[in-house]
Amino acid sequence: MNYQNLSQVDRQKKLNSSGHFSTASGLFYLDNVGVEYGDVKALKSIHLIIEKGEILFITGASGAGKSTLLKILSGDIEPHLGRIVGPHQDKGHFIAEIFQDLRLIPSLSCLENLNLSYDPNIYKNRGEFVQDLNELAKVLGIIDRLNLKIQDANGGLAQKIAIMRALLARPTVLLADEPTSSLDYDSTKKIFDVLNVYNIKRGLTVVWASHNRELVKKFSGRIIHLDNGKLIYSGHACFI
Ligand SMILES: Nc1ncnc2c1ncn2[C@@H]1O[C@H](COP(=O)(O)OP(=O)(O)OP(=O)(O)O)[C@@H](O)[C@H]1O
Ligand SMILES: [Mg+2]
Repeated sequence: MNYQNLSQVDRQKKLNSSGHFSTASGLFYLDNVGVEYGDVKALKSIHLIIEKGEILFITGASGAGKSTLLKILSGDIEPHLGRIVGPHQDKGHFIAEIFQDLRLIPSLSCLENLNLSYDPNIYKNRGEFVQDLNELAKVLGIIDRLNLKIQDANGGLAQKIAIMRALLARPTVLLADEPTSSLDYDSTKKIFDVLNVYNIKRGLTVVWASHNRELVKKFSGRIIHLDNGKLIYSGHACFI
C-alpha cells in the first residue's frame, strides 16, 4: 500500500483564521473526530471534508470503523471527541441510509417495501413515483420479482430493494453501508452505474463503505482508507 497521500488528509483540515470551521465548500466537515465504545476507540482523530456531489468510498478491514464513520455522518451517533458539521438541519437536504442489516420489513413484499418511500411532498403525483420505481427495477433486472416477500428474497434481491428504497426517497446524500456485499461484480457495477447517474443528473453525494477495496477501486471516486479507527489514506484509486 502506498501512503504517499497522507498529507492530503492534513490538508483537508480547513480551519478559518479564527480557528472555526468554514462550511463554504464542503458538505461534511469532521474535525478531530473520535468515537469510543467503552474501551474500544472505534475512530481516532478523523479529519475529513466531504464535498457536495462527491462519490466517496470508505474502505478498511472488518472493525476498522467504517460503519461508525457512517453513523457519525448520518447523525445517528455523536462524536465523543472533536466535532462534525453537516447538512443535517439544512433545508433542502435529505440524507438517506442503507444499513448493513438493510432494515426492510420481512413480511411485506419488495413492492410494498418500496411503496413506503412514496412521499407526496417530493413527487408531483403517484405516477411519477411509479415511473421512477419501474425504471430502477428494470435497470437492476428485478421487475418480475417485486411481488416476492422480503423473507423469501435472497440477499442480493434484498440489497437491490434497499438501494431502490433509498433512491426513491430522492435524497441529496446517500450513505450506504456495504450495499452490495451479497451481489456479484456485474450487479455491483449496475448499482454503481445507477448511483453515478443520480450523482451526475441530480448532484447526489454518495458515501459507500466497503471492506472490499479491490472492488471499489474499479469505480471512479475518492477512497478513504481506515485502519483500526485511523484515517490513513485519502485519494484516488490509482495510488492505493
Ligand atoms: N455498539 C458497539 N458497542 C461496542 N463496540 C462496538 C459497537 N459498534 C462497533 N464497535 C466496535 O468498534 C469498532 C469499529 O466497528 P465498526 O462496526 O465501525 O467497524 P466496520 O469497519 O464497520 O466493521 P465491519 O466491516 O465488520 O462492518 C470495532 O472494534 C467494533 O467491535
Ligand atoms: Mg460495518
